[in-house]
Amino acid sequence: MPAPQPALDPVVLKLWTAVDPHSLKVMELARKVAGTAATVLIRGESGTGKDQLAQLIHYLSPARDQPFLKIDCASLPAELVESELFGHERGAFTGAESLKRGRLELAGNGTIVLDEVAALTVAAQAKLLRVIEEKKFERLGGSETLQISARLIALTNADLERAVALRHLREDLYYRLNVFPIVVPPLRNRRADILPLARHLLENICALHRLPKQSLSPGAAAALEAYDFPGNVRELKNMLERAAIFAPGQEIGADLFPAHLGGREKKETKTTLQEMERQYIAEVLDYTRGKKTRAAQILGISRKTLLEKRKRYHLD
Ligand SMILES: Nc1ncnc2c1ncn2[C@@H]1O[C@H](COP(=O)(O)OP(=O)(O)OP(=O)(O)O)[C@@H](O)[C@H]1O
Ligand SMILES: [Mg+2]
Repeated sequence: MPAPQPALDPVVLKLWTAVDPHSLKVMELARKVAGTAATVLIRGESGTGKDQLAQLIHYLSPARDQPFLKIDCASLPAELVESELFGHERGAFTGAESLKRGRLELAGNGTIVLDEVAALTVAAQAKLLRVIEEKKFERLGGSETLQISARLIALTNADLERAVALRHLREDLYYRLNVFPIVVPPLRNRRADILPLARHLLENICALHRLPKQSLSPGAAAALEAYDFPGNVRELKNMLERAAIFAPGQEIGADLFPAHLGGREKKETKTTLQEMERQYIAEVLDYTRGKKTRAAQILGISRKTLLEKRKRYHLD
């Protein structure tokens, strides 16, 4: 059964282009959870739109005018992640010259996004668990217990079950995070989104680079629709950006896409109707081992017409 069509306001459409039933389902889940204070876990391959979806949830929530803060647990050094997240008191460690509020505090009643949550150290995971369960934490080096009122959204492209098995991720945190999981499917599994997304991204790209509006040639559209996008929406976006900048006119041809797309502009390679007819007649003649009456029957033409075509196409 197709997912019910949600009423989409223009900002939502900008944040989350969804046409395919799989991504409409994701949007439905986002809508449902947005109205609650629940901690959300967004899972999905790299480039599928996890950050984008976190923004959508924030926008759809009553906290949309409150802060939206993000912390990347994978790219910051472990010590920094904790002080960024929880903040620190003056003198908590060497170099902590003044009090610093963490993002949990600064997010107020808004939303805080923990990107690559599985990259947190086990010590930080224990603190996070307490934040989720009791809404409480202390600044590093502090004794005052603070209350968090922001909503947490955790993102990951890691295999969390494996991380638990390897004891890289605390099992109790895993269960806590997994209360409201949303899995963003890879782009290749929601193919109906490819072209609407491409058009949406292209519009943004042209505006960003002050380029005249561009469109996709039929060959380019076909090449995109047939491609698997291992890098998901990010790959699509990068590809379009490059193509839009290099496009000589206002139409993007498939020749502007990387060769591995295999969708070279069909203008040169597409066979004409005549060429197809020639090939097909040759195939049928081959099949009937040169028996013309039988071949004509299969082709649905008279023997005379077949002989004419055979001559014209030099098949004799
Ligand atoms: N549904 C969508 N509608 C519009 N833009 C999208 C959508 N999904 C993704 N994008 C765009 O694609 C790019 C990649 O998305 P995003 O950064 O959210 O992916 P991610 O899943 O967080 O990737 P990573 O795991 O590498 O962090 C971004 O530029 C984002 O704006
Ligand atoms: Mg991301």
